Amino acid sequence: MIFRNGSIGQITLGALIISGLSGFVVAYQYEAAIPFVSSVAIEAVLPFGAFWRALHFWSSQAFVILLCLHVWRRIGDLPKVSETARKRRRWAITCATVPFAILALFSGYVLRHDATGMAAGSIAGHLMLDVPFVGHGLDRLLIATTSEGVNRIYVVHFLMTILCWMLGTWYHTKRVVLEGRLFLLMLAASLLLSCAVHAPMDLPGQASHLIKGPWFFLGVQELLRHLPPFVAGVLFPSIPVALLISLPWFRPARGPLLFLELWFMVYIPLTLIGWLR
Ligand code: HEM
Repeated sequence: MIFRNGSIGQITLGALIISGLSGFVVAYQYEAAIPFVSSVAIEAVLPFGAFWRALHFWSSQAFVILLCLHVWRRIGDLPKVSETARKRRRWAITCATVPFAILALFSGYVLRHDATGMAAGSIAGHLMLDVPFVGHGLDRLLIATTSEGVNRIYVVHFLMTILCWMLGTWYHTKRVVLEGRLFLLMLAASLLLSCAVHAPMDLPGQASHLIKGPWFFLGVQELLRHLPPFVAGVLFPSIPVALLISLPWFRPARGPLLFLELWFMVYIPLTLIGWLR
């Protein structure tokens, strides 16, 4: 049986390793000063460029999806986690990998800087500015696409990757736990997918009249049509993260878990509506 306890966590780590390694290959050709042109150049100039871009793209998607699956399965361990203050703290800190991973993925789309990436960057900047008191500072520190291009986002992309790695290995398991066969399985799946399917890119003239953000952002985009930006883009997406982190402090955790499920029951249809637009 391949997927016994802990296997999903190991495959997640495998995906992060492949994403990081392929990230360095595409970074070789990438220039933050001319993001879109250099993204196109990755495919045009770098040997097997389309393959490397696709490998980075698909392994990154796999990393985030598998991480969410891994955390979801670990919710079953909550009775044990709730036992001591130390275990609860560890759970909370380890769960921070989820928002960090989503930020790494999101910043990747902005780095590509095609129509989707530019829209994602400018929406994120506007949302950040809506955060009371610290919004301007956060935008200057993390995004600032208007004044800095993708420079800040590039730093965030690296930083989030490093944080995911440190939390997922050094903090979470104290060492790198990854069986060779599980890594090879992930590698084979990523290689096959990257040979078969290109990473998406909106080329000039191809872009549709409605720019859609990354798939995990579609629900937020849809909500932004109906609610104030701070509620739709900051408060609403923070709910599952806050709930997940605080789960071990609730005894029993059934109430917040139900609320978490309810959040997904709202977010998934919102994503579908945004996708079908
Ligand atoms: C050391 C690690 C990493 C490096 C050096 C790196 C570097 C880069 C560079 C230079 C680009 C722009 C290339 C392009 O436009 O195609 C990029 C894009 C991207 N990155 Fe990373 N990255 C790293 C890790 C990650 C991780 C951990 C994730 C996901 C959680 C991620 C997700 C993405 C995505 C989705 C894109 C857009 C790809 C595309 O559509 O072309 N990256 N990355």
